[in-house]
Amino acid sequence: MGSGKSTVGRLLAERLARPFVDLDQLIEEDAGEPIGALFQHGGEARFRGLERVALERCLSRDDAPVIAVGGGALCDAALREEAHEQGTVVLLHANLEALVLRLSGDASRPLLSGGDARARLMDLAAVRGEAYEDGPIRIDTSDLSPAEVVARIAAAVSDTHVAVSRGNPRSWLNLTSDPWRAVANTVARCRPASVLLITDDNVARLYLDAAVAALADRPLSVVTVPNGEPSKRFARLETIVHELGERGADRDSLIVSLGGGVVSDLAGFAAAIYMRGIRWVAVPTTTLAMVDAAIGGKTGVDVGAVKNLAGVFHLPVTIVSSVFTSTEGERGVRSGLAEAIKTLAVGDAAGFEDLERDGAETWLDEAVRTRWIAASAQVKARLVRDDFLDHGGRVALNFGHTFGHALESLGEFSRWTHGEAVALGMVAALRLGVRIGVTPASVAGSVERLIVAARLPHELDAPTLMRALPLLRGDKKRRGESIRFVCLPALGQHVVEEIALSDLGEIAASLAD
Ligand SMILES: NC(=O)c1ccc[n+]([C@@H]2O[C@H](COP(=O)([O-])OP(=O)(O)OC[C@H]3O[C@@H](n4cnc5c(N)ncnc54)[C@H](O)[C@@H]3O)[C@@H](O)[C@H]2O)c1
Ligand SMILES: [Zn+2]
Repeated sequence: MGSGKSTVGRLLAERLARPFVDLDQLIEEDAGEPIGALFQHGGEARFRGLERVALERCLSRDDAPVIAVGGGALCDAALREEAHEQGTVVLLHANLEALVLRLSGDASRPLLSGGDARARLMDLAAVRGEAYEDGPIRIDTSDLSPAEVVARIAAAVSDTHVAVSRGNPRSWLNLTSDPWRAVANTVARCRPASVLLITDDNVARLYLDAAVAALADRPLSVVTVPNGEPSKRFARLETIVHELGERGADRDSLIVSLGGGVVSDLAGFAAAIYMRGIRWVAVPTTTLAMVDAAIGGKTGVDVGAVKNLAGVFHLPVTIVSSVFTSTEGERGVRSGLAEAIKTLAVGDAAGFEDLERDGAETWLDEAVRTRWIAASAQVKARLVRDDFLDHGGRVALNFGHTFGHALESLGEFSRWTHGEAVALGMVAALRLGVRIGVTPASVAGSVERLIVAARLPHELDAPTLMRALPLLRGDKKRRGESIRFVCLPALGQHVVEEIALSDLGEIAASLAD
């Protein structure tokens, strides 16, 4: 209230060439009387009922209007959920002084009538706290003109925001072409007491200056770890937690991770355990981390010879921008492409077909790369949102990973990158699916063709498969005497198949080229 939603909404609609709806006006038209009278006759409950109906009607319109909605409407958790599902929620707020100034003398506000406006506004803020915090874009309008607010919203909504979780606190994936603006806005939105930026030495050389500039307006510390998997260890985690304490981080501090999957796994783990959990923002800089590692809140470190043996779930806000891939080597991008093929194959038949249609010669071009990164990141976000703790649909993302993990460790984590091992694992899972009658040969053929075209490893030889067998026994997906494989009954779908360990040898032998 008083944050300027009607003025700003109208200007924004003009700028974006979209229709504009002032919800209060629509309610008055529906009810045939002004809001003040509505409150008088039916009380707030009647108003909220009409408001719900009107908002639901607007949300289902297919001409994507800009809708100015009072903050009270989004206090209803179900309606708020619907608004987040159907559109992009932009929260405008202002400090108390600015609000009192703007609203003084306005007699048309029923919720402010009957008392001291300042006290009523404070009460409202307390009641609506959760609704006012919940959304990807929050803009403080106190010191801004309507035109400035509109400019900020227009920039923010040019990004794509996808919810990675439901309810509060909600986690977001932000797909953007301007990562530093998104980082600055996200951090400003979190209003942290201080920020700890965690990165590795390679990434620091390339991007630290830009990151520091984006985070300049609040207390900032930087921790740089050596690049590579050996940094994903408890010893390094302890150093980071120690560093957080030394630098006075508190429960309102925020960690920003800038780097590949190693940095996000490590930084996310630190955020999960420091003072029993502080917020974090993941800024993935490798393709693999953009489509996979930095989305979904799985954090962890390696212990002994076992990768990711210790870890916890702790969701970040993730900012994905393919601009970072311009400095990544081709092998890294192709490894990320393997994970993207995997995710689209199990979760998005249309996205998979787009990739087929684009043709392999374009996949590494900037525009096409940006599209498949965005498509697979969104599928991953959706799978995570529906199954955060990995008890159901999220298992689809393990397609190719049963053999993939075994091959990765067989190759001592150096012969194949993770994505390359997953490519081989997908070929194995496809052939296994065909062999047990779950995967149609045409589907297996489509996915294998993409893997070949992506110039990823795809040849399975019998000795390698046989040597990988004992390693399958250590897989997290093993259940007693059988092992679970994610198979593909159709593009965009998955099914989990249990194969008895005793049958696996014979089956594996039949998967070789
Ligand atoms: N948490 C999850 O859900 C999840 C999922 C998949 C993988 N992972 C983990 O992710 C890790 C692998 O991630 P990764 O492949 O990103 O490896 P990585 O983080 O080691 O990065 C690979 C290399 O690229 C460099 N680099 C990063 N960004 C760059 C850029 N933009 N330009 C140039 N160089 C850059 C890094 O310094 C590093 O040397 C593994 O530890 C794996 O277990 C986690
Ligand atoms: Zn993977």
